[in-house]
Amino acid sequence: MPSRDELFAAYALPDRDRTRVRMNFVESADGAVTLRGLSGGLGGDTDRSAMQVLRTMADVVLVGAGTVRAEGYGDIRVGDDDVAWRREHGLDDQPALAIVSGGLRLEPGDSVFADAVGRPVVVTTDASARARGGVFGAVAEVLAAGTESVDFSAMLDAFTRRGWTQVLCEGGPHLFGSMLDAGLVDEVCVTVAPRFVGGAAGRIVQGARESDRRFALAGVIIDDEGFALLRYVAS
Ligand SMILES: NC(=O)c1ccc[n+]([C@@H]2O[C@H](COP(=O)([O-])OP(=O)(O)OC[C@H]3O[C@@H](n4cnc5c(N)ncnc54)[C@H](OP(=O)(O)O)[C@@H]3O)[C@@H](O)[C@H]2O)c1
Repeated sequence: MPSRDELFAAYALPDRDRTRVRMNFVESADGAVTLRGLSGGLGGDTDRSAMQVLRTMADVVLVGAGTVRAEGYGDIRVGDDDVAWRREHGLDDQPALAIVSGGLRLEPGDSVFADAVGRPVVVTTDASARARGGVFGAVAEVLAAGTESVDFSAMLDAFTRRGWTQVLCEGGPHLFGSMLDAGLVDEVCVTVAPRFVGGAAGRIVQGARESDRRFALAGVIIDDEGFALLRYVAS
């Protein structure tokens, strides 16, 4: 298994000056995004370590409401060594958390709010913010960006104004699809697990229009369990 230092080197950022969106996913060798409805069963020790490294480097972790609901998303905090790395690099102790939900079908008591270190940001549309934003007043900040659906460029502009340039998006597939369609994905980190799942699981991109989007393969790590950690950058 690669050491923590090797993972930091493999995912090093060229700079923190410009806004950058990194996706992080795990999938089976036959392209399944879930095993029994969840991503956790697909992963291994190396990609879990890589996820911690990617979170450590991020200003904000972005996740879709579907993933929050399916996975019971909660605490995303990084460990003590990672906090030390963040302090050395002039970052807050923990990355911020932002959740995309067009319809605000979330509850203030959900673990994603209860277990959060700070107040997560809920990114939604203007209409949903007006209709239901107030419900989250005690547990989150509601960011209205977009009329019909969330406007991701406006969201990233709002993040940049807070100093959040490095965005780690942990899915899910519909959020990935929306951001691909918007042309806002700079990097995709995907772990291919040595498993063939079959069944009806979806792919890591859902809902995006078909298009030949070329990314360059920028990194490959193969661990001793046969997991392939691939890194693609937009070309
Ligand atoms: N293998 C992996 O690495 C991985 C990673 C993440 C998730 N997953 C799996 O993926 C599944 C969830 O998939 P999913 O596609 O439903 O999750 P998702 O992309 O996290 O969530 C979709 C939801 O996000 C909001 N959303 C996305 N794009 C939007 C837009 N343009 N405007 C407004 N709202 C938008 C909507 O929320 P509202 O419905 O609230 O409006 C939408 O229903 C789960 O089974 C999870 O385990 C796997």
